[in-house]
Amino acid sequence: MANNALAILALAAAYVQESESMELPRFGVRRARSSDISLLERVERSASEVFRTVNLGFLANGPTLDPTVLSALAKANHLWIAVNDWDQPIGFLGGENLDGNFHLVEISVAQEFQGRGVGKALMLSMVEQVRREGYRSITLTTYRDVPWNGRWFAKMGFMEVLAQSMGRRYLDILIEEGKYGLDRESRCVMMKML
Ligand SMILES: CC(C)(COP(=O)(O)OP(=O)(O)OC[C@H]1O[C@@H](n2cnc3c(N)ncnc32)[C@H](O)[C@@H]1OP(=O)(O)O)[C@@H](O)C(=O)NCCC(=O)NCCS
Repeated sequence: MANNALAILALAAAYVQESESMELPRFGVRRARSSDISLLERVERSASEVFRTVNLGFLANGPTLDPTVLSALAKANHLWIAVNDWDQPIGFLGGENLDGNFHLVEISVAQEFQGRGVGKALMLSMVEQVRREGYRSITLTTYRDVPWNGRWFAKMGFMEVLAQSMGRRYLDILIEEGKYGLDRESRCVMMKML
């Protein structure tokens, strides 16, 4: 009887373990290839769907990153791709030099993979590489109070900095964003020291 109970418990434990591991998406992070570029629009579109939940649906309907920009980031080895078991992109992160800082141009994780550690893994790969390249700081512009923007980046070690203290090129980015309808007062510049 006791043996039967133990066997049932062991089976139940194995089942829980299996269903838990089935729920966890497997992914890897690698450098971008030119064949990835055309697949990133779908990832970015899917990622931005979440903005509809905070009345920023225009971002989900708006333009995605220009493929020539993505290709340039890839050529510079500054485009990282998260892929599923079939090597298909499920997320990406790209950035470039801006006044000596490594400036994050975009990070997007497809909707069904959000909140599973993919964004963090992309961020860690980028940080590790740009640190080796000699960068001492990473910057970005984002929505201060959107949970998966300002608060998410704060969790990743970024702090808000005064846009005025960052110089003309950062102010120009905020102005350019304003032209696309991104409310200047809600946007901020954030920085992470390496
Ligand atoms: C921002 C984004 C890339 C984050 O990627 P992600 O894969 O969802 O994030 P992760 O699962 O790696 O999150 C890492 C940590 O942040 C936490 N987190 C995830 N989503 C969060 C949210 N909405 N609010 C607060 N914390 C969050 C996780 O719990 C995790 O915490 P832990 O390290 O303590 O376990 C993703 O949400 C996304 O694509 N959003 C839409 C596009 C976007 O806004 N990009 C940024 C433009 S500036």
